[in-house]
Amino acid sequence: MPPTTTSSLQALEPSGLAPRALELNAELAAANSYVAGALSPIGRAVFYPKDIPFQAAEARSAEFNATIGQITDGAGSILSVSSIADAIHLAPTIKNRALLYSPIGGHPDVRAAWHEYQTPAELRTEEGPPCGLPLVTVGLTHAISLIADLFGGPGRHVVVPDPCWGNYSQIFGLRGGSIVHRAPSYQDGVWSWHGLQRTFDSIEGDTPIVVVLNLPSNPGGYSPSVAERVELADILVAAAQRRTVVVLCDDAYTGLVFDDAFPSQSMFWELLGRHPALIPLRGAGSTKEFLLFGGRVGFVTLPFAADSVEYRVLEDKLFSLIRSSVGSPVSVSQMLLLEGLNSGQTAIEISAIRARLRGRFEVMQQALASAEGHGETFRVMPCNSGAFMLLELLGSTDPEAVRQRLLNEFSTGVVAIRPRYIRLAFCSMSRQAIPELVQRVAAVLRPVKSAAQPI
Ligand SMILES: Cc1ncc(COP(=O)(O)O)c(C=O)c1O
Repeated sequence: MPPTTTSSLQALEPSGLAPRALELNAELAAANSYVAGALSPIGRAVFYPKDIPFQAAEARSAEFNATIGQITDGAGSILSVSSIADAIHLAPTIKNRALLYSPIGGHPDVRAAWHEYQTPAELRTEEGPPCGLPLVTVGLTHAISLIADLFGGPGRHVVVPDPCWGNYSQIFGLRGGSIVHRAPSYQDGVWSWHGLQRTFDSIEGDTPIVVVLNLPSNPGGYSPSVAERVELADILVAAAQRRTVVVLCDDAYTGLVFDDAFPSQSMFWELLGRHPALIPLRGAGSTKEFLLFGGRVGFVTLPFAADSVEYRVLEDKLFSLIRSSVGSPVSVSQMLLLEGLNSGQTAIEISAIRARLRGRFEVMQQALASAEGHGETFRVMPCNSGAFMLLELLGSTDPEAVRQRLLNEFSTGVVAIRPRYIRLAFCSMSRQAIPELVQRVAAVLRPVKSAAQPI
């Protein structure tokens, strides 16, 4: 066994937690017992160490800064490789920041610009929403993973919608050891909160739980109505009367709502301040909102003001989780996003792209409604938003067999979701090709129906 140093022995209390972690946990517990009680074991253990990034940040404006391991000209500018630097067409100061390390929580101006961008108009008061600046992550997946680290963990009950983005099981279940419950999103082909309510009722005891809301949904492409949102908030508040409920709003598809009768903003804003034991967190990203798929810039927004103990402690713990997983977020793509956030053109371009998506959405909706076998071999799940439409296969058809046949015999790729769904991504199909896509799907389902047996 390697020798244990005196300093590392001193750093550990009998509980196994370092003194700084115990101090943070005690501060948090005194300010908000719900949040403190909902932390996972790793969430309780982590704290941002005062090592290199901390010391480098403190020395940022010092006359001599001999802290960080970045290779510069000695005056803060990167010594760059020209083939790389010249490929980034940004103003020199921004280019410099793009090539240097990002602060652990992200560049402050990127965080501030995203905060401004994501805040709904009605909350843009002088006071603003009670949320400190969001933290930058490496895509939304990383944001979800950080929240899973902080509030998931072994034995924690986590409720996810069903069908859902499959990665929740990997993140919460496989990596984190949480018990993942799938709450059905539909009842007889209609969007419903009954499954969520039933799942809550089935989890015994009063330990904290985590709930994932993904609206607009993947794979279903549904966003709830005003009345459904009120009902959802009431269900969550009622659940919070019994136990602490951490709600992760996975807002991957924010803004992609194609029916104007349905609200498009995140449920996060509606859940803020509803109940002390209801802790909403927002995970969002530039991936789909700014079409920056490869940029990997995501954000975590906490439901606490910047000067609150909760914000300070959770930010500290998230810093530690970020530092220990990805080092720091990507600077280059933060600078690209900043250009987008600051440009007056961006909103116009994004709304033009969304109008194009809406066109594809409408074409797919019509093509499916008039497709052979609609209502007999398949039905379309309620859909008004997002990037996908979900077909429920009626009878005992295996979606994986349908996927294989479409791929092998019709050169058509779709996603199979067991036990009985096929997901069609209209976001990545041209408007002209959508009717043919739908016809091919219907054609594969047709013989299944007439033969009255599974493929
Ligand atoms: C529901 C949902 N959440 C999260 C993500 C992950 O987003 P990112 O690519 O930014 O990590 C996706 C990506 O497809 C998604 O569909």
